[in-house]
Amino acid sequence: MSGMKRTTLFITGTDTGVGKTVLTALFLRYLRQSGVNAAALKPICSGSRDDARKIFAAMAKVQSPRSKAQSLLRLNEINPWYFRAPIAPLLAARRDKKSVELTQVLASLRATQKRFDVLLIEGAGGLLSPLGENFNSRDLITALRAMPVIVCPNRLGAVNQVLMTLEALPQPLRVKARVVLMSPPKPDAATGSNAKLLAEFCRARNIFVLPWLGRRFAADPVLRLPVVRRTLRALAAV
Ligand SMILES: Nc1ncnc2c1ncn2[C@@H]1O[C@H](COP(=O)(O)OP(=O)(O)O)[C@@H](O)[C@H]1O
Ligand SMILES: [Mg+2]
Repeated sequence: MSGMKRTTLFITGTDTGVGKTVLTALFLRYLRQSGVNAAALKPICSGSRDDARKIFAAMAKVQSPRSKAQSLLRLNEINPWYFRAPIAPLLAARRDKKSVELTQVLASLRATQKRFDVLLIEGAGGLLSPLGENFNSRDLITALRAMPVIVCPNRLGAVNQVLMTLEALPQPLRVKARVVLMSPPKPDAATGSNAKLLAEFCRARNIFVLPWLGRRFAADPVLRLPVVRRTLRALAAV
């Protein structure tokens, strides 16, 4: 896998609090353990910098001798834009009398893209959540030609939420998009059938299911679970 082709995956979701950071941090660890020169970014944070810290921790943890030579990023590189108010980044920035422009963010993302073979970028909120002046995650995905990864809780309502998010993507990106259903601690009546139903509307091989990993799970044991490894390996086969 260390020869994985250069790619950028953009981790977005149907909502905030759906498991984007869980997926980003786990996937990053998995890739780096597998010898891939991978990095993850959370370019814009509002409210707290916890997501960027989780990514920093996942990146700093060198578990494989092969990944020792891989470069690390500082917290400020993982998250160049941080605003204190726990609201949409666009408004949080305005409260701090700041503005974030699309061109600045793209320049920063492209500079990091050049340094790594695989780059994961976590958006904030969902696909259309306002990130800065006149742009959202969809604009970043489109400009970077990134592979969209849509994270959604695996419960009743997921099919509608995923289809609405897919619908909002330009057609060429829609067919490339991956969907990751995050299973809740207690499955509901739809948890077991969502993936199959979704497969009637998009390619089955683009749909992935991750299990509930526990309330305070540790990454290392979780990354040894065959079901998690299988899913991340398939997600890496882009
Ligand atoms: N598969 C999962 N197993 C265990 N906990 C999960 C899982 N998916 C999400 N969570 C939990 O749900 C909460 C929100 O997840 P997070 O990744 O921070 O969401 P987002 O980045 O989309 O806002 C966190 O407490 C996280 O640990
Ligand atoms: Mg997050």
